[in-house]
Amino acid sequence: MTIDTSLAFARELDAQDPLAEMRSHFAIPKQANGEDEYYFTGNSLGLQPKLARQYVIELLDDWQKYGVKGHFEGDYPWLPYHEFLSEQSAKLVGALPEEVVMMNSLTVNLHLMMVSFYQPKGIRTKILLEDHAFPSDHYAVESQLKHHQQDVQENMLLWSPRVRNGISEELLNHDDLYQLIEQQGDEIALILLPGVQYYTGQVLDMKTITEKAHARGIMVGFDLAHAAGNLEMQLHDWQVDFACWCSYKYLNSGAGSVAGCFVHQKHAQNTEINRFAGWWGHDKASRFKMENNFKAIGTAEGWQLSNPPVLSLAAIRGALDTIDLAGGMGALRRKSLKLSQYLMDIIEAELGDSIRIITPKEDENRGCQVSLMVTVEGLDGKAMFDALEKNGVTTDWREPNVIRVAPVPLYNSFEDAWQFVRILKECLQ
Ligand SMILES: Cc1ncc(COP(=O)(O)O)c(C=O)c1O
Repeated sequence: MTIDTSLAFARELDAQDPLAEMRSHFAIPKQANGEDEYYFTGNSLGLQPKLARQYVIELLDDWQKYGVKGHFEGDYPWLPYHEFLSEQSAKLVGALPEEVVMMNSLTVNLHLMMVSFYQPKGIRTKILLEDHAFPSDHYAVESQLKHHQQDVQENMLLWSPRVRNGISEELLNHDDLYQLIEQQGDEIALILLPGVQYYTGQVLDMKTITEKAHARGIMVGFDLAHAAGNLEMQLHDWQVDFACWCSYKYLNSGAGSVAGCFVHQKHAQNTEINRFAGWWGHDKASRFKMENNFKAIGTAEGWQLSNPPVLSLAAIRGALDTIDLAGGMGALRRKSLKLSQYLMDIIEAELGDSIRIITPKEDENRGCQVSLMVTVEGLDGKAMFDALEKNGVTTDWREPNVIRVAPVPLYNSFEDAWQFVRILKECLQ
C-alpha cells in the first residue's frame, strides 16, 4: 500500500481526528522561536494537563484556607484524597476500584509487591525477568533475592531475545518464555515482566503469560510504566497477581508523581498476606485510635505505608479527568494506533533506506512508541538525536542506539508526525 506523504494529507487526518481538540487541554513547550515544540517524549514525561495545574493550585488554596482542617474540609479533603483516584485508575488498567491504589513511586511499589508475592520455598526460588529489563527492576529483583539469601546467579532467570549468526534480535519471542516456564516452572516463584518493553516498544501478551505461569503455580506481576495510559488492559479478568506503574509518562501527572499499584482482589482481600506495613494500610475505622496491632485494610489500600503527598495526587486527578474528557482508554488507543501507524508508514516511505524501525508493526504488539535505529554507514544515532533536538523536536535517546518517538494521542497531531519525518530527513541530509 502506498501512503500519501503530503502535508495536506496529514492535515486532512487531523481534521478528521475526534481527539484533535484535546491538545488545547495541555501546555505545549515552546521552541526558542516561540513555536510549539514537536514533543514526542510522552513515554518519558507526559505534558502538563491544564486541569492538573488548576487542581494543584486549588489544593494550595485549600491549604492556605484550612491549614490542618484541610484533611476534612473543602471539596476534596486530604484524608481520603487517594480514594478520589481509585475508580478512574482502575478503569485505566481493567481492574476493580478496590484492587487499585495510588501510592509511593514505581520501584518502591515493586519492592512492596515482591515482599508479599515473592516467597521462595523449597526448590521454588527463582524470579524470571527479561534480559533487558529497565535497570531499576533488575536492581529491585536482585536485591530481593539477596534479601532472601538466594544466590543471584542461580535464581535470576533471564528471558532474552534470540541470537542469530552471533547477533541478538531486538524483540522477545514469547515461545522462548513459554519454554522456560515449561522447563523450569517448578523452580520459578515469580515472573516480573513489563507490559510494554521500554526500549523496543514491544507489547507483551500479559493474558497468556499469566495463564501459562499460573498453570505451573507461578505468581505474576507486571511493570506497567510504559503500558498505563497507553494500552487497554484487563488486569482483573486476566488474573494478574499484581502490577505497578508510574504516573508521569502516559498519565501526565508530573515528574516523580505518585505511582499506581494493582493487587488482584483474590489477594487484596487476604489481610494475612505478608507485607511491610504502615499506618495508612491499617483499618480506617481504628487508624486514629493509635493502637499497635496492625489490621490490614482488605483492599489494595492495605499496602499503603504513609499518608500520601496530596499535591501530587491533585495533579493525578487533573490528568485522569483529562483522559476522561477524551473518552477514556478506548478512544485514546484507537487514535494511538492510527497515529503510530501513520508515523511508521511515512518513515518507511520517506526514510526506509536510512532508518530501521525495531518496534513490532502489528497493532496488538505495539503501543504509542516507535523505536528507531539510524542505519546509515558512518552516521551516529546520538548525533541524529541531537540534531533533532536543535530543530525543535523532542524525542529521547536510549543507549546503546535507539531514538524513541512516542506520538501521544492526547496531544500529538498527524501534522506533528509529518513534521518529525520532514525534520529527520533534513537532519539525515
Ligand atoms: C519500565 C520502568 N521501570 C521502572 C522505572 C523506574 O521508575 P521510578 O523511578 O519511578 O521508580 C522506569 C522509569 O522510567 C521505567 O521506565
